[in-house]
Amino acid sequence: MVNENKNIREEVLKALFQAEGETVSGMQLSSRFDISRTAIWKHINQLKTNGFTIESGAKGYVLLNPDDLLLPFCFSPRFQDRIYHFQELSSTMDQAKQSAKSAPHLSVVIAEHQLNGRGRLNREWVSSAGGLWFTLMLKPQTPPFSAYIYNFAASLSLAASLRILFELPVTVKWPNDLLLEGKKLCGLLSEMATKSDMVEYLNIGIGLNVNNHPGKSEPNAISIKDVLQRPVSRKTILETFLNDFQSRIESIDCHDIIQQWKQITSTIGTQVRIETLTDTFEGLAVDVNKSGALIIKDLDGKQQEIVYGDCFHN
Ligand code: BTN
Repeated sequence: MVNENKNIREEVLKALFQAEGETVSGMQLSSRFDISRTAIWKHINQLKTNGFTIESGAKGYVLLNPDDLLLPFCFSPRFQDRIYHFQELSSTMDQAKQSAKSAPHLSVVIAEHQLNGRGRLNREWVSSAGGLWFTLMLKPQTPPFSAYIYNFAASLSLAASLRILFELPVTVKWPNDLLLEGKKLCGLLSEMATKSDMVEYLNIGIGLNVNNHPGKSEPNAISIKDVLQRPVSRKTILETFLNDFQSRIESIDCHDIIQQWKQITSTIGTQVRIETLTDTFEGLAVDVNKSGALIIKDLDGKQQEIVYGDCFHN
């Protein structure tokens, strides 16, 4: 019964979405789904509680922000079967871990709300409403030591998509954050499993501040809405990104990806501090090598290669 209600609710939402801003009457919905108008009214109320902006009037119901919906039916057919949308999850990373083995390559778990979103180095990730919180589930035919390139491809694709869609001067920060006006716009987190010396699955979690407003607890974060002063379509961002990312990884070229990534990084040429779970390194970031490691030069001119860590621009 719970699932049946959820399915009807999703179908009601789909009917409103397909009406493209026109009013759909309670009567139409009731005869289409063969349930009472009161039952339709209850489904609409539950959808509103779930955060969907639906206007109810004497003539029926209108979905007000169809462009921002992230349900599978909103995406082009090539992605519809690979989008798993949830109203609430502990973390899209947990869900992706459960689904990764059976999900097809390049599938996406999306959550409107995360109760326990997590960031790199086990930090909490605040996931306020209006952000784009998702995990890509990938099955690259590659040994584990080459998997890093998919993170670089993802951050590059997302930055390129945002530059094209909104003409925003988004930069990438090593290893895979996106910055805007020097503040954090997006973070990436990856988890993988191996089997017989090959990657079994690689999950890349992406947290992008879109229509949310990062609060006081995140003074160094910024959202697209903060900068553009208007809400934008999360669905358009995700679809543009998926198209770009899919074509980049079809025949992945590590040299090309790193070169293009370096063209839009704000890390190289900056004094940085790198924190790992056990150490701190400081110096001038001078390069990112073909393996994705950051090369820093300390005050004595000594160069060090850092393979992982959290990077702070000084
Ligand atoms: C970081 O910069 O520390 C990485 C943040 C990654 C956040 C995203 S939001 C979607 C996915 N689910 C999570 O719990 N974390 C990632």
